[in-house]
Amino acid sequence: MRHSDTSVVTIERYIIEQEQHYPQATGDLSAILYDLALAAKMITNRVRSAGLADVLGETTGINVHGETQQKLDVLAHNIIIKAMDHTGRLCAMASEESPDLIPIPDGFRTGKYALLFDPLDGSSNIDVNVPVGTIFSVLRKVSAGTHGTMADMLQPGRRQVAAGYVIYGSSTMLVYTTGQGVHGFTLDPTLGEFLLSHPDIRTPLCGRYLSVNDSYATGWEEPVRALMRHYRGLEGGHPALSVRYVGSLVADFHRNLLGGGIFAYAGNHDHPAGKLRLLYEVNPLAFIVEQAGGSATDGVQDVLDIVPHALHQRTPLFIGSADDVALARRLLGGPLAGAGA
Ligand code: AHG
Ligand code: MN
Ligand code: MN
Repeated sequence: MRHSDTSVVTIERYIIEQEQHYPQATGDLSAILYDLALAAKMITNRVRSAGLADVLGETTGINVHGETQQKLDVLAHNIIIKAMDHTGRLCAMASEESPDLIPIPDGFRTGKYALLFDPLDGSSNIDVNVPVGTIFSVLRKVSAGTHGTMADMLQPGRRQVAAGYVIYGSSTMLVYTTGQGVHGFTLDPTLGEFLLSHPDIRTPLCGRYLSVNDSYATGWEEPVRALMRHYRGLEGGHPALSVRYVGSLVADFHRNLLGGGIFAYAGNHDHPAGKLRLLYEVNPLAFIVEQAGGSATDGVQDVLDIVPHALHQRTPLFIGSADDVALARRLLGGPLAGAGA
């Protein structure tokens, strides 16, 4: 259904309208999206008041990545778990903040979907009031039995049935796809409703922005250095891109999605396989960017084709405008690079 620019459409109404594309839909996936929108409102309240309540700063906890957990990381993690674990739609969950699979508690009904999420992305920015986000990915259960297993989590990104992110920026936006395009909703704090503000988001073929942390340049392979010289207009006749790097993947990705651009996080001394996590940071954003006309590669293949082997595995990432990602594929030598990628 098309909406005029003046239509006031809540995310709940839009999800129901989208569900009509799937006659066999049971409503479970729609319910997961509603519940995530509710969790996003609850996290927004805590993020917006973080400077006042005692939720800034670090916990004593260390996550599986050896990173000190921020209080808001854990808070957002718990909010999502509590919003999702009893709804009967999920078989299991996985979070950046939890080393293992998160089972559905005994006594609760289980469902046919698996949810993976980064509860708070950009943690290092929390205390300095720079936008942070939440990222989520939904997969269909593939294992036998009622409870989810690791097999349900370790599926290639192409198998996602939904993906999205929330950006807690100058306004709170929720952006998601179920394979029917990418749609953005802005939270109206006076109503407590996410309203359709960016229907059918399309990302420009050529970017305006380059998002990269140059401090790792000494650890890059030469082809990566050459690629960055191209993006900076120093080589190959590529127009010079404006460098914008916030340090929150969701914020950098969202700006590039709307304005056109490339986010690059190559392997480096600290993170030879890249820093970003495949299952709950890279795959959901790759599903979104492809639905918006862009693409995402690890330099060799589309990240959505990577067959995962571990819950928290990392991958190099070049994501955004199709032409800029194609250049990465060409220069980094992906086997399909010569195929006019
Ligand atoms: P998280 O806060 O969930 O651990 O994610 C942080 C990630 C991502 O948001 C951002 O793009 C990247 O870390 C920044 O890494 P560097 O500080 O190494 O540039
Ligand atoms: Mn993150
Ligand atoms: Mn995180």
